[in-house]
Amino acid sequence: MNCFETYIDHSVISFFQENDKLFSNVTEANIMIKSACGVNDFFNVQDELLALKNKIKDNSYRVEEPNRRAYGDFQTNKKLSSQVIEYISSKQIDFEFVLEPTCGKGNFILAALEQFETIKKIVGVEIYLPYVWETKFKILSYFIDHPDRNKPEINIFHENAFTFPYKEIAKQTQHFKTLIIGNPPWVTNSELGTINSNNLPKKTNFKNHRGFDAITGKGNFDIGEYISILMLKSFHKHDGLFSFLIKNSVVKNIISDQKKNKFKIANSEKLNIDSKKEFNVSVNASLFITTLNSNPESICAEYDFYTRQHITTFGWHKNKFVNSIKDYHLANIIDGNSIFIWRSGIKHDCSKIMEFMPSSDGHFINGYNLALNIEDDLVYGLLKSSDLKERQTNQYRKLTIITQRKIGQDTKYIQWKYPLTYSYLNNHKEYFDKRKSSIYKGKPSFSIFGVGDYSFKPYKVAISGMYKTTHFTLVTTDKKGKPIMLDDTCYFIGFDDYNNARIAHYLANSELVQRFLRSIIFSDSKRSINKDILMRIDFEEVYRQTEFALIEGELDGITIDDWVIFGDFFSKTNHVKQMSLF
Ligand SMILES: C[S@@+](CC[C@H](N)C(=O)[O-])C[C@H]1O[C@@H](n2cnc3c(N)ncnc32)[C@H](O)[C@@H]1O
Repeated sequence: MNCFETYIDHSVISFFQENDKLFSNVTEANIMIKSACGVNDFFNVQDELLALKNKIKDNSYRVEEPNRRAYGDFQTNKKLSSQVIEYISSKQIDFEFVLEPTCGKGNFILAALEQFETIKKIVGVEIYLPYVWETKFKILSYFIDHPDRNKPEINIFHENAFTFPYKEIAKQTQHFKTLIIGNPPWVTNSELGTINSNNLPKKTNFKNHRGFDAITGKGNFDIGEYISILMLKSFHKHDGLFSFLIKNSVVKNIISDQKKNKFKIANSEKLNIDSKKEFNVSVNASLFITTLNSNPESICAEYDFYTRQHITTFGWHKNKFVNSIKDYHLANIIDGNSIFIWRSGIKHDCSKIMEFMPSSDGHFINGYNLALNIEDDLVYGLLKSSDLKERQTNQYRKLTIITQRKIGQDTKYIQWKYPLTYSYLNNHKEYFDKRKSSIYKGKPSFSIFGVGDYSFKPYKVAISGMYKTTHFTLVTTDKKGKPIMLDDTCYFIGFDDYNNARIAHYLANSELVQRFLRSIIFSDSKRSINKDILMRIDFEEVYRQTEFALIEGELDGITIDDWVIFGDFFSKTNHVKQMSLF
């Protein structure tokens, strides 16, 4: 029986050694342990008691821990557990019932026992038997060291959180001031799929997925989110607090889904933790705390866990889910549709051949360090996300070949018009043929994407889609007067007229647009700057909200006439034309 693959502390071993004679049968042992530490049914069967006695005699009570990836197993260290409990006690201290639905090695239960004197009942649930034992031994050890402390009724169940009857426990404890605390598994059902784990709830549609995902119950969801929702469903009408360490994405989903779930939670807080330091993993996670049995709210204040510095308050503002309620409130007037169409840059999936640097002898050097000698005509400067740091630029590090002026254009012309370019491309045809994306299938040789008339606009207002920064760069033509291209990690709007581009660039970087972007972009989302976000900038409204007389000094050389001409973009007759132009 593998019941002692766990650390048993010295005081517990002494406790069993000293009481060895009294522990002749399981019933007596359980009664004695209950009176020592409050834990019910410490041993389930006589064999467990005997096994423990033998192990202690053999001195073999420590073993290696197996890989527990399937269980999203990141145990909360003692220090962090205590810090969390300390923070909770700054909000409420009179808890009568504590529930840890996936209690692991029990550090939260211990920290709660140490901090809260009023607890009458504790329930811990854990699927991994050695942890169940470890938790029970820790509790016993704690009370051996603190015999005068109040002993609640404690049950540590070796059960599966997905099937455990939490609803029943909720009924029994409905009048208790409740603390739901824990750190549920950090793993998604699809990650579990890749390791063939069956540590999953039965087919479920708790996220109300539609279509195929609903039928199969296969929508990707986080196990921690599932357990959080299970807890809120069962206990949101209890007085008390819910406090979980969970991934940031789970907190965001809980608040976002409040619109439909309407759990009785309020005063929600998200306190960002350093998961690398605490758990040695690179996952954005935080402590989520919310007050139960409150008028439902759908906003959440975000802080740094260690400094308590307020970062933002995110959630629902009318019918929009935003990262900063305050900023959105001040900037939502420009939440609309951009008259300028934001485009992403050139995509070719063949960088080693299609991107090169100028060499000192006036030629080019490609990604394989090979010199190439081709005509200039199809060669353009190329900027990547990392090049968009300046306010304005006409410099580039790399160049590229623009083989088409629009998507799907026949590329045969290159052979007779630009024989050197053709021979370079054709000599490396295999690299183009190897491109995996299906967009290139059946298309002319050396096809590129993200190309159109807009790519050749001489002036562009551009932003990186790879970084969190919301700053825009004005890209102008190169020294020879050729437009500079952007790669597919960037977004831009293009202009024929320099002054128009300067005004659009000024407006994009204005406090109003920057505030708006900050308000709707969630800093931890991947590719947070994207076309959908940018298309929400209503330039017409930004223009209307900006008084030329007040900003004239910042737009050197731009006259009131230029400003008025820019306003023509928004005249009714121009609207339709412009939309297709950009
Ligand atoms: C992230 S760890 C945290 C443990 C503990 N709550 C803490 O804060 O240290 C998640 C725990 O959930 C347990 N677990 C995973 N799947 C479970 C399930 N289906 N039922 C109960 N516990 C489970 C794991 O064994 C692990 O101990």
